[in-house]
This record gives sequence, C-alpha cells and structure tokens, in this order.
Amino acid sequence: ASGGKILVLPGDHVGPEVVTEAIKVLNIIAEETGRKFELEVDLCGGCSLDKHGDSVTEEVLQKCLNVDAVFFGSAGGPEWGTAQPNPESGLLRIRDRMQIFANLRPCKFASKALLAYSPIKTEVVKGVDFMFIRENCGGAYYGKKIEEADYGCDPWEYSRPEIERVVRVAGALAMQHDPPLQVYSVDKANVLANSRVWRRIATEVFEKEFPKIQLKHQLADSLALLFITKPTAFNGVLVSDNTFGDILSDESGGLTGSLGLLPSASLAGPPGNVDSKLGRNSVGGVVGLYEPVHGSAPDISGKGLANPTGQILSLAMMLRYSFNMHREANIIEKAVERCLDTREDGGLEIRTGDLGGKAGTVEMSEAIQGEVRRLLKTT
Ligand code: NAD
Ligand code: IPM
Ligand code: MN
Repeated sequence: ASGGKILVLPGDHVGPEVVTEAIKVLNIIAEETGRKFELEVDLCGGCSLDKHGDSVTEEVLQKCLNVDAVFFGSAGGPEWGTAQPNPESGLLRIRDRMQIFANLRPCKFASKALLAYSPIKTEVVKGVDFMFIRENCGGAYYGKKIEEADYGCDPWEYSRPEIERVVRVAGALAMQHDPPLQVYSVDKANVLANSRVWRRIATEVFEKEFPKIQLKHQLADSLALLFITKPTAFNGVLVSDNTFGDILSDESGGLTGSLGLLPSASLAGPPGNVDSKLGRNSVGGVVGLYEPVHGSAPDISGKGLANPTGQILSLAMMLRYSFNMHREANIIEKAVERCLDTREDGGLEIRTGDLGGKAGTVEMSEAIQGEVRRLLKTT
C-alpha cells in the first residue's frame, strides 16, 4: 500500500536546488523505515509561466487536491516582474484551492549556537519559542480586487467560519502540551471592524471549546515592537489574520538567525488527534503544503550557495503533520541541530554563506543526511 502521495513543486531559482536536497533526506527516511511515498514533480511559478503561460495550470491545481501533501520550493524572480499573473500568484491560487488556511511558522532556535547570529541581544532573545499561525486563505489577500489606473482596492474581510477554523488550530496546537500553551490572538480591534469580529469570535471559540486556555489579545502594531524588545513574552501560540501574519511572521523569523533556516507548514485542518474531520488526508494526517519561509533568492541561485535547512525543516513538518511520522520529524530536527551546534558542544558547526561561512548547499545537506541516517539507526 502507498504510504502517501506527495506532489513536489520545486518552483524557481534556489527552489529546485534546495528541494533536491530535501528529497534526498526523504529518500533516506523511506529507505530506513520501509515507508513508501509516491512522489510526482510538477511546475508552479515562473517555470510554469514559461512553459504554459500561466503561474499554475488547472491540471496542477487538481493534482494538489489529490495528494496527501504538497512539498513546495519557492516561486518568483526579477525576470518575471509583477504583472499578473506573476509567479507568486501560482502559490496564492494553490493556497486558495487547497484551502490550507492555517500557515504555521515556528520561531525558535534550531541550535543554541545560533543565538550568536540573532540581531537581538542574547539575553533578550534566549529561550524564545513560539508558533506563529497566520490565516492563509482570506483577508486582504483574497476577495474582489479592483485595479484601475488611479484606484486600487483589496477588501479586508473576515467571516465567522474563516475565523473559527483558524483559531481552532491555535487551540488544538496549544492543547497538545500539558499544561496547554498560552494562546495570543493578534488584531487591530481598536481600528478595524473585521478585527473586532475576529476578536469576538476567537473569544467565543476559546470559551466554548478550550476552557483550559485563557486567550489573550494583542494589538498587531505593538506586537511588532514587542517582538524586538521582549520576544519571549509570547512563548506559546500566536494566531493572526493574513496580512498581519505575513509581516509579523517574517519579523519573528528574523529573531532566530537566518531566513535560510526557517520552515513553514500550511494546513487544511487542525493537526493531531482531534475530533475534527476537516482537512484529513488518506493516511490519517492533515492535508498540507510545506515550504521554507524564504523566497527564490535569485541573487544567489545557480551557485550552489543556498542553505537547504529551511526546506529540510519543512520536510520535518510535513512528516509530522501530514504523515504522523513524529519520530522521523524529531530526528530531522535533531540532525539539523547537530550540524549547527558548535564543535565545543559536540556538533559539526557547519556554516553556509547566510551564516557567514563557506559551506554550500550540498555540503550542508550531506551533513544533515549523514546525521539523519545515523540517528535513524541508533535511536
Ligand atoms: P528571498 O527570501 O528570496 O531572499 C532574501 C535574502 O535572503 C536574499 O539575500 C537571499 O539571498 C537570502 N536567502 C533567501 N533564502 C536563502 C537560503 N536558503 N540560503 C541563503 N540565503 C538565502 O526574498 P526576496 O529576494 O525578497 O524575493 C525573491 C523572490 O522570491 C521574489 O520574486 C519573491 O516574490 C519571491 N518569494 C517567494 C516566496 C515563496 O515562494 N513562498 C516567498 C517569499 C518571496
Ligand atoms: C509568503 C510570501 C507570499 C505571501 C508571497 C510570495 C505571495 O511573502 O509566503 O509569506 O505574501 O504570502
Ligand atoms: Mn511573506
């Protein structure tokens, strides 16, 4: 029997470079555990524009709906510009079609050696550990847009079902810990009508469904400041709308070192053993799309310089949420940690260019692969 179907969309520039490396890690896991994944590779982004004249084809959108998970690289590059459809629109259309409404962006140090690479003082950022959940299918990104010569409009709307389903993911993640994690809902309820509705419905859902959690509310602008001045104050789970989430999750990602290290997961339902049938795939996990937070890095593409870690940590998230392979997901994260740890701490201390070092994509990837193989055999 198939252990699960994965659609691989490497995309543009460094996308294919780092996806190739992550697939090597997946192959090692398949080999060592005997789990058989069915992989199919296709186009999304500038590569699809060049071949088909569109950023994603209807055929690929259909494939996205018929797999257990999508593994995505990155889309875009200066050669395609912003005229619609641009490469990035392919990703937005996939998010919409798959209804992967909860975008999880973890913020924690992949290794304590990276504390030294944070732009924030060690004593301020040390111990930061939260999951940022961004609503991924609504708000100003979608809805009826108007684009005229002298007028543009992106209606910023939210309705009950969109709010309920994403704040439930925050609740479900927080409840996976004992005691449950603190949850923060981020909005601008002092100004925006859609935020006031968001805050009211989020409060209702938590009172009714997660009575053990005391939901806290945080205004988005002050959060932008507090992320820099007091980031550990938000340890736990944060949930926000699409636009605030886009901006604030990039900011939070910046706390823990390089963009090249950061993974993300976009889920169609709550993870883990919950009552909800929403977004379940054929192997008992959640349908999801997994991609690094970084883009296609055209400035370093084609040179073998990109850090593959964000893509490889996205693979770990895929195994955890879509395939319930928690042991293997933990092993990938441990392997990454060991490759980044200093020699003094028994690690391999590999440093790619984004961390001021000389290692290339393949060198970093091979080190991670070696550690993954070793840990699969010995733990
Ligand atoms: P970017 O994330 O591609 O690059 C920002 C900086 O970080 C660059 O200096 C780059 O060299 C560096 N960087 C990024 N990933 C790295 C890695 N793995 N290893 C080492 N260094 C890395 O952001 P950008 O330059 O603003 O965007 C480039 C293109 O990517 C744009 O077309 C943008 O729209 C697109 N983009 C796509 C996605 C996506 O597909 N999900 C996300 C963000 C941006
Ligand atoms: C992200 C990116 C995308 C977004 C772009 C590339 C469409 O910035 O995944 O955060 O704005 O959602
Ligand atoms: Mn973004």
